[in-house]
Parts: sequence; C-alpha cells; structure tokens
Amino acid sequence: MKTKNKSYQPVSPDNQKLISNSDMELISKQHLLEMQSRHTIRDFSDRKVSYSIIENCLRTACSAPSGANLQPWHFSVISSPSVKSQIRKAAEIEEQKFYNDIKKDEWLTALEPFGTHPSKPHLEVAPWLIVVFSERYGELEDGTKRKNYYVPESVGIATGFLISALHLSGLSCLTHTPNPMGFLSKICNRPSSNKASLILAVGHAAEDVKIPLASTVKKPFKEVVSVF
Ligand SMILES: Cc1cc2nc3c(=O)[nH]c(=O)nc-3n(C[C@H](O)[C@H](O)[C@H](O)COP(=O)(O)O)c2cc1C
Repeated sequence: MKTKNKSYQPVSPDNQKLISNSDMELISKQHLLEMQSRHTIRDFSDRKVSYSIIENCLRTACSAPSGANLQPWHFSVISSPSVKSQIRKAAEIEEQKFYNDIKKDEWLTALEPFGTHPSKPHLEVAPWLIVVFSERYGELEDGTKRKNYYVPESVGIATGFLISALHLSGLSCLTHTPNPMGFLSKICNRPSSNKASLILAVGHAAEDVKIPLASTVKKPFKEVVSVF
C-alpha cells in the first residue's frame, strides 16, 4: 500500500447508535451465545459457498483496527482445485516432517487431544482457502520501505474479525498453521514483504463432523479476567 503523510483532519463517524442499556444487555448476550457456538472444524463437506459471502467476510476483516491504520495484511483467496492441491502437497510435506520430529515431542503431546495428523484433506475439500499474510513493511511512493507498526497484533485482530464474520454467516473454518509456511508466499505469488500467518480453510462442516472434547473446555472466566 502506498501512503503519504497526512495531517490530522477530524470527521464524524458514520454510525453513532444510541442503544438502551437493556437492549445492549440483550445484544451482548445474544452475541456471546452465538460466538460460543463456534468451533474449529477439521472435516468439511464439498458444498459450494459463493464468493460474495467470502467477500463480505473479508471486507469485515479489512475494517479491523490496526497500528496507525496501516492495515498490514493481505488475504489470498483460493478456490482453484489446482492451487489448493499445490498447497495441500506442500503443507503435508511440512506436516510430515513436523510429526516425525522428536524435538517437537512436547508440542506433539499438547496436540494429542485434538486428534490432528499430517494428512490434511481439508486443504482440498473445503471450497475456500484464505491465506492470511502479514505485511512486514510497506512501500512509499518513491519505492522506499515504510515501517508497519504492531503487525502481529493487527493481523491477529483482523483474523479474529474474519473468523467471527465467517461463523456469523453460517460457515465453519479451520485455522491451520503448517510449520514452516514459506511455501505459501511462493504459491500465492506474494512479495518478500509478506509473511504467511495462517491458512483458513472455509466451508460447511461434513455431515458426520466431530470436534475434540478438549476444544470445548475453556479456561474458567475468573482465571483469565481480573476486574478492578
Ligand atoms: C494461531 C492458531 C493456530 C492453529 N493451528 C492449527 C493447526 O495447524 N491445525 C489444527 O488442526 N488446528 C489449529 N488451530 C485450531 C486450534 O486447535 C483450536 O482453535 C483450539 O483447539 C480451540 O478449539 P476451538 O477453535 O474449537 O475453540 C489453531 C488455532 C490458532 C488460533
């Protein structure tokens, strides 16, 4: 993205809603229940999903806050069977090495309750793959590098917006992080400023889908929240 330095110019936000306290209670509770029903899905059906739904979800992700509004992300959106097949092949090579690496023993033990393995059919079965890239630095009009700020935080927040939007649209997804992920820049033809952050496989869950019990157990609220 090319940007010029601009001075501060105040404008009013588009949508300033006035919602009553009781409505806010209701809305926040409904949102909580809706989001609590989200789970990572690892088995997909091949049921088609139209691009317009994916685009709306991506536009939601692009509305996320980011350090200095530099939006240091790029989403490569893939439905092409041949590109999906290339990604699956490359990912499974890395996954096989990962699962055979005895130095990763502790990590692999942590993964056991999730029943994951090096075979990744979802990379071909899910109708859409969204590869999320972090833009480590931008480019100024004169071609020099421009620093981006809080890149992992910004990309993480945008990805959270995306996962929420997909779920609220009735879709399922899998956050997949083959390790390492360098092959994704090559397949998706991204410049060296871009670093793959994760793959989201997106679609509808397979009919007989199961999720790991371990994923349903979240830390006690009091352990993760302190109120002063
Ligand atoms: C950054 C990140 C990386 C993940 N990588 C993988 C992965 O490579 N493979 C996988 O099967 N699940 C992966 N997951 C999914 C997690 O295992 C899952 O979110 C967790 O078990 C909680 O389950 P839930 O999403 O159903 O609440 C990842 C999740 C995150 C946030």
